[in-house]
Amino acid sequence: MATTSSAPGKVYLFGEHAVVYGEPAVPCAIGRRATVHVDQRPDGRLRVEAEDLSLDGFSVEYGRGETPDVDVPTPLVQAAVGYVEEAVAQARDAIGDSEAGFDVTIESNIPLGAGLGSSAAVVVAAIDAATRSHGVTLDKPELADRAYQVEHSVQDGEASRADTFCSTMGGAVRVEGDECVRLSDVPDLPIVVGYDGGSGDTATLVAGVRSLKEEYDFAADAIASIGDVTRRGTAALEADDVRELGRLMNFNHGLLAALGVSGRSLEEMVWAAREAGASGAKLTGAGGGGCIAVLDDTDASLTALRYLPGCEEAFRAGLDREGVRRL
Ligand code: PMV
Repeated sequence: MATTSSAPGKVYLFGEHAVVYGEPAVPCAIGRRATVHVDQRPDGRLRVEAEDLSLDGFSVEYGRGETPDVDVPTPLVQAAVGYVEEAVAQARDAIGDSEAGFDVTIESNIPLGAGLGSSAAVVVAAIDAATRSHGVTLDKPELADRAYQVEHSVQDGEASRADTFCSTMGGAVRVEGDECVRLSDVPDLPIVVGYDGGSGDTATLVAGVRSLKEEYDFAADAIASIGDVTRRGTAALEADDVRELGRLMNFNHGLLAALGVSGRSLEEMVWAAREAGASGAKLTGAGGGGCIAVLDDTDASLTALRYLPGCEEAFRAGLDREGVRRL
């Protein structure tokens, strides 16, 4: 059977980096998606084709135990294929057929490696479409858990449940350790994303924060303060107080900048949005480079970002309440 599933990317409203130390974080799913088409293959092989991934598309075909033979940069292919391969392993396990073969085609308009959860969206959609292609429909908690296992294994144990849970469930979610809950009564959020065209190295940025935390008590205090901001932010979100939400996002960004994970292009985008009148603006994800999340119910910050030389792309991407979508 041929099946198609899609899953959304996300921004962090609050709490990235601090979540690594057990503080709460609040990611929220946005209106940009990865879509995965899957067809059964009778020969037990896996074929992966990627399009529109904000990188050169590629296509590889190989059997288990073989190495893909392609002429695009190896690290890119290894990264993308690594996620799909593990997603397929989870699907084979879920359907109880270790010999199942799949044709997998991926399309995504989520910038890669830029703090928007692109890999989680691909993994969630891939597991969902692959299992359904064999007549098995996973419930959402199992899908989220299997997607987390994929990220955990591909990222050498350095993954939180935030991205995969948020992408599966949709909406805004609160993550604290292994506990993930979908927040109820969340208003429509006027989210704008600014993207500098770059990405940060998550492992290096996380390691940088860790060493600051070990060296300085006030860095540890900054991490604890992000936890406090997140708790206040969750209350503001549930009270539909967008003004307060924006102010707290600004505060969260300042604390992240103090911890060394902002960067020149992120600062330029944040300040362009703020000067245009946004309610709030902060980096999202690991930082260094990549995306910012802005709250603005006018088009002013979108326009300002589009005129900013360091901003490659700016788009409106409101809260997605749906999560995984079965097409
Ligand atoms: O850039 P992303 O979306 O992979 O987010 C990284 C979030 C961190 O808190 C910095 C790391 C983590 O695993 O939680």
